[in-house]
Amino acid sequence: MQAREAIIKRRSVRSYIAKPVPQALIEDLVDCARLAPSARNVQPWAFVAVSDKETLSRIAGFSDNGRFISDCGCCIAVFCQETKYYLEDGSAATQNILIRAYDLGLAACWVAGDKKPYADEARKLLGAPDDYKLVSLVAIGYSETRDATLPTKKSLEEVLHWDKF
Ligand SMILES: Cc1cc2nc3c(=O)[nH]c(=O)nc-3n(C[C@H](O)[C@H](O)[C@H](O)COP(=O)(O)O)c2cc1C
Repeated sequence: MQAREAIIKRRSVRSYIAKPVPQALIEDLVDCARLAPSARNVQPWAFVAVSDKETLSRIAGFSDNGRFISDCGCCIAVFCQETKYYLEDGSAATQNILIRAYDLGLAACWVAGDKKPYADEARKLLGAPDDYKLVSLVAIGYSETRDATLPTKKSLEEVLHWDKF
């Protein structure tokens, strides 16, 4: 699949079937995440891939808009050491996960981490050090409705300005 096709077709999916995600695919996703750009190439990230059902339920329990995490095959928690650009860096890594997930036939959804009241609870639950911030929780799984909903996007004409806003 070409990068453009994955970018065009990828959408957030919040319902999953009970099919485990092979460890090799999770490794592939995190391998793509670690190759993301980062400010001054600091690469402040660390990833916790959670497949344990009880831990997934606990994460779902405190993430208000991520209840569906309890049904996913794996949730990748993206942490970044609290550097100046940790949020941008962690977001770039998160986007790589989403694009590659689509490419691999998986469904995924970015669930907010940074700024959420549960960010510290998630950090403690997953054992990340004090100086790491939760950037995102990425739900990963297989879905029968992966391509069912395509939220509308602003047109190119609406967002692109040439030379001046
Ligand atoms: C920073 C950020 C936080 C998000 N947090 C959540 C969330 O907590 N729960 C959720 O269901 N979706 C979340 N999303 C997914 C967005 O709702 C989704 O990307 C948006 O509705 C556009 O749909 P699309 O991803 O299918 O293009 C988040 C996306 C971003 C970029």
